[in-house]
Amino acid sequence: MSSKEQTSANLAEGAVPAPLTNLKIQYTKIFINNEWHDSVSGKKFPVINPATEEKICDVEEGDKEDVDKAVKAAREAFQFGSPWRTMDASERGRLLNKLADLMERDRLILATIESINGGKLFSNAYLMDISTSLKIIRYYASWADKIHGSTIPIDGKFFSYTRHEPIGVCGQILPWNFPLVVLAVKIGPALCCGNTVVVKPAEQTPLSALYVASLIKEAGIPPGVVNIVPGYGPTAGAAISSHMDVDKVAFTGSTEVGLLIKEAAGKSNLKRVSLELGGKSPCIVFADADLDSAVEFAHQGVFFHQGQCCIAASRLFVEEAIYDKFVQRSVERAKKYTLGNPLNPEVQQGPQIDKEQYTKILDLIESGKKEGAKLECGGGPFGNKGYFIQPTVFSNVTDEMRIAKEEIFGPVQQIMKFKTIDEVVKRANNTSYGLAAGIFTKDLDKALTISSALQAGTVWVNCYGASSPQAPFGGFKMSGNGRELGKYGLHEYLEVKTVTVKISEKNS
Ligand code: NAI
Ligand code: MG
Repeated sequence: MSSKEQTSANLAEGAVPAPLTNLKIQYTKIFINNEWHDSVSGKKFPVINPATEEKICDVEEGDKEDVDKAVKAAREAFQFGSPWRTMDASERGRLLNKLADLMERDRLILATIESINGGKLFSNAYLMDISTSLKIIRYYASWADKIHGSTIPIDGKFFSYTRHEPIGVCGQILPWNFPLVVLAVKIGPALCCGNTVVVKPAEQTPLSALYVASLIKEAGIPPGVVNIVPGYGPTAGAAISSHMDVDKVAFTGSTEVGLLIKEAAGKSNLKRVSLELGGKSPCIVFADADLDSAVEFAHQGVFFHQGQCCIAASRLFVEEAIYDKFVQRSVERAKKYTLGNPLNPEVQQGPQIDKEQYTKILDLIESGKKEGAKLECGGGPFGNKGYFIQPTVFSNVTDEMRIAKEEIFGPVQQIMKFKTIDEVVKRANNTSYGLAAGIFTKDLDKALTISSALQAGTVWVNCYGASSPQAPFGGFKMSGNGRELGKYGLHEYLEVKTVTVKISEKNS
C-alpha cells in the first residue's frame, strides 16, 4: 500500500493526522463583495489563543460603517435581475457543494485554526466540527433545487399559487463555541434559499469564518452574496440587528443578547428574527437504566468541549435508588482527564474560551460550594497559563442553588436526586429554558410519556447529543425562536408569496 493509500485508509477509520505546525494566518480583514477591506475606523482587535493566552494575530475591527458597506453589497447582490437572483437553483446547489469540497480539501488548516483559536481538541475539530460543517452545507446544497410552492384550489375563476422566495439580506451573528459549525448552520440554508448574508463571527473566534470567506470566493459564489464582518457585539453585532436594510437576523448566543436582538429588530424595521440561545437542560436517569451507558452519556452531555455547549446536560436528575452509585461512577469518570494544549493528542480537555467565561465559571463553582452542594472533585482553576478549569462534580445539589439554575458553560456537573416521575418532570420543566433533555430508562412507556411532558426542542432517549443536519434543532421558551437544520430550517429563510391570477371568462 502506498503511503497515500495508507493515509486515506487510516482517515477512513477515523485516524487523525498531526495538526499543522506554524500555521500562518492569511485572512484577517473584512470580507465584502469578495474583496478584503480594512476597517473604516482603522481599528484592529487582537485574537487570542485561549490555551496560551498569547496573541495569534490582529483582525480588522468592523463597526457600523463596515456593516453598512457589507449590507449595501448584500443588497446589491440581491437586486432583482442580479446574477444571484437569476441563477438556476441547481447552480446554487453546485456552488454550495463546491464550497464544501474546498473546505474538505483544506480540512487540516480549518481544524488547526479551530483548535488554536477556539481551544477545541484538535481531534474533535478534525473529526467532528469539520465533518459536521461539510455535512450541513452538502445537506442544504441538495435542497437548493427542491424548494417550491404549491397550486392552491380556490374559486375556479382564479388560478392561485405560492412561491417560496428568499427573504433578502440576512444578518447572521455567530458564537465562539462552534465557530465553523454554526457558520455552516447559518449560511447553508440562507444561500440554498437564495438569500444574501452579512455574517458577524464572535470576536473571540473570527479566523475560521475568514478562511472560509477565501473559499467562498474560490468556489465562485458571486460578489456580495456572502460578506463577513469581524467585530464586537455591541458595535458590529448591534449595527446588524438594528439595521433598517437587513431583512432578517439569525443569532446564536446568550439569552441576554437574544433579548437585545429582538428589541433592536422591534425598534428598527421589524426584521425577522431567529434565535438559538442558552439552556439548562435536564438529563433524567431512572434506576432501571443501563448504568454504564447512562453515566457516560450524562458525562459527555456536560463535559464535551469543556461544557461550552448550548445543549449541555447541566441538570442531572438521578433516581434515589441508584443515586450514590451514580455519583461515585460520575466522579471516577470526571477524574480521568488530562488537561492541556488541545493541539496535543494526549490531551482530553482544553481551555475555556476566554477570561470572562473562565471567571464566570469559577464564580459559579464558588457559589455551589457556598450554597451547600457537595464538591466531589475539581472545584478550581488548573495550571498557571491558559483558561483551564478542573473537571468539577457537585452532588447533593438542590433546585434553588445558582449552579442548578444558571447556565454555567463550563466543565461542571450538577447531580440532583429524585423519587417520582411527576416530581422529576415538574422540576425538569421548572426553568425559563427549554433547549434539550435526556431520559435514561429501559421502560418505553416511561420514556414516551416523559418525552411528551418535557418542554424542550430536542429530547434524547438513552443517548445525549446525537444530531444530524436532517433533524431540526431549536428551543422552547427562552432557549430561542424558530428551528435550524432539517427541512424546518428552510422556513426561517423563506417568504411565502401567494399569486392569484384572474382567468379570463371570454374563453369559457
Ligand atoms: P454573547 O451572546 O454575548 O455573544 C454571542 C455573539 O453575540 C457574539 O458574536 C457577540 O459579539 C454577539 N453580541 C454580543 N452582544 C451583542 C449585541 N448587543 N448585539 C448584537 N450582537 C451581540 O455570548 P458571550 O458573552 O460570549 O457568552 C455569555 C454566555 O452566553 C455564555 O456563558 C453562555 O452561557 C451563553 N452562550 C451560549 C451559546 C449557545 O451556543 N447558545 C454560545 C455562546 C454563549
Ligand atoms: Mg456577551
